[in-house]
Amino acid sequence: MLDTDTEAEVFNAYAAHRWGAGLVGRCPDGALGLVDPARTEAAPASLPDLLGNLRARGIDTPMILRVGAFLRRSLETLNTAFERAIAANGYKAPYRGVFPIKVNQQSGVIDRIVQYGRPWQFGLEAGSKPELILALSRDLPPGALLICNGIKDAEFVRLGILARKAGINCVLVLESPGEIDTVIAEARRLKEKPLLGVRIKLTRRVSGNWADSSGDRSSFGLTTKEVVDLIGKLREADMLDCLALQHSHLGSQVPAIMDIRQAVDEACRFFTELRRLGAPLEYLDLGGGLGIDYTGEARATENSMNYTLDEYCTNIVETVRYAMDEAGQPHPVLVTESGRAIVATSSILITDVLEAAYFDRSAPVTPEPDDHHMLSDMAAIEGYLSPRRVQECLNDAEYYREELRALFRRGVIDIEAVARAEQIFLYLVGRIKEVVARTPDVPPEVADELAEHRDIYRINMSLFQSLPDVWAIDQILPIMPLQRLDEAPTRRAVLSDITCDSDGKINHFVLEDGIENALPVHELRPAETYYIGIFLVGAYQETLGDLHNLFGDTNVVTVDFNDDGALELVDEVEGDTVSEVLAAVEYEPRQCLDAFKGIVERAVRSGRINPRQRREMMDTYREALGGYTYYEHPPEEDAHG
Ligand SMILES: Cc1ncc(COP(=O)(O)O)c(C=O)c1O
Repeated sequence: MLDTDTEAEVFNAYAAHRWGAGLVGRCPDGALGLVDPARTEAAPASLPDLLGNLRARGIDTPMILRVGAFLRRSLETLNTAFERAIAANGYKAPYRGVFPIKVNQQSGVIDRIVQYGRPWQFGLEAGSKPELILALSRDLPPGALLICNGIKDAEFVRLGILARKAGINCVLVLESPGEIDTVIAEARRLKEKPLLGVRIKLTRRVSGNWADSSGDRSSFGLTTKEVVDLIGKLREADMLDCLALQHSHLGSQVPAIMDIRQAVDEACRFFTELRRLGAPLEYLDLGGGLGIDYTGEARATENSMNYTLDEYCTNIVETVRYAMDEAGQPHPVLVTESGRAIVATSSILITDVLEAAYFDRSAPVTPEPDDHHMLSDMAAIEGYLSPRRVQECLNDAEYYREELRALFRRGVIDIEAVARAEQIFLYLVGRIKEVVARTPDVPPEVADELAEHRDIYRINMSLFQSLPDVWAIDQILPIMPLQRLDEAPTRRAVLSDITCDSDGKINHFVLEDGIENALPVHELRPAETYYIGIFLVGAYQETLGDLHNLFGDTNVVTVDFNDDGALELVDEVEGDTVSEVLAAVEYEPRQCLDAFKGIVERAVRSGRINPRQRREMMDTYREALGGYTYYEHPPEEDAHG
């Protein structure tokens, strides 16, 4: 056990005090806990306790844990931050946010957003026909907007126009020059006036990972010339009075506040000009862009941001007010389509470590008498290992290992000898690490080299299914163990998933000292589950994931805080079964079963197996078809060991 200061140091090493927004904390027993945003002074609720309870119910990791209270809090903070900025700036119109469905389409998320957002008439954004169909079936409050982006066919347009007749504030945003003809034709056919928006390409580019969704070359939106033509067309069709909204998407995860201010300023210029041309614009929609500080560094970098939510809101409100007052025009209703800022915090991916490969671990090994002399030469390095000579020892160990591997490849030494050489090498790395740990001012090259000998902790999940952005765009997410935070972690590891793919690896971690290439972890104990939590995963990850290696959706568990401050199961969606993922890639599970039965029956007929063995094979196959796609722990295993 460590003293309290050192325990705090262990917890802080993962920088949770920076990225956790006060919602993660350390429990007295060293477990990681979640803090109820409504009662921040109360003790955190232990995650390992919750996982133990869930496992007893048969709900296991990997799982996505959605925390209802965190989602409620995000909606509340966004809406109240705009309310504060509006009041402080004397702005004369309200804020009406919408949630872009594509950021997390799961019903457990969308339904809660609609429910929690009701006090602020929070709406939805649909980027496709299926998303519109989904959105139309949710009971949005009367003042809420349903904003339709994306390329629209006649059916999409028809649905949007008819929805308005049913009292839904469905805005059809014109994304491309061709769409207006479809809209005019459908409106005439239905003899209805639609509520229209126009998406305008801003010329200013924002920085960050999604810079390409801004500026002249962005794929959506109308250019200045196309907007002017559109106004003419609408006027000609006697539909200019339908144009109620201007959409100018600022981007996604915009890291720098200056970019936001400048883009809003440009959006306002278009807005006031369109009004001057006679468009009765009422709403200014600034799209997405509000970031999440994944690394907690508060810097203008891809995974961080150099502004707070209050600054974001104040900058928008202030900029729009100046521009409108200067043009002598009324303040428009402000709309944003923040996705990640609403949902990222509320989901945590929890996985367990299945095994560890330690890269400096071996008992001392003595070469055999007839081994090649290089084995003894390598073993002799320990004899001259000292703080002064660590670099030399490391160089020598690496040299001999390479030479011995080459001798093996050429058939000079056998497999047992090269196995002994590998063990001697690992033993030496372990000894060198011990000396380095006690030595101040280790040459950076040695530290870098030793960092290459990180452990590999194999985690029960698929990166491609559950964290596609980590693989595709090097997204950095906060990750930390969920237990033993009262104990100094003695190992440094990269995390490797269970797909047969070397890309399925996480090797960037948010730590107190910055972004590091190894995660501090504890040595695994036999029969004790070691849980790892990956935080801020609520945005984009759940639906972008794919079936690489046929690993399916994980279990999803929604929890909330009860009156005693403990986490309580609210809702559970079981992850995909093997049958479900097979069906998703065009196999009929029943047919697979029958085909396997045929193969096994042939084996019985040829005498390779007996009927009892056939039955066992079929039972196992059948059970596996209905089971989880991930590593399944035996039922008797206890989460706490
Ligand atoms: C049109 C539109 N609106 C909203 C968003 C959501 O952005 P964010 O998740 O950064 O808030 C996006 C995402 O790129 C988008 O394309």
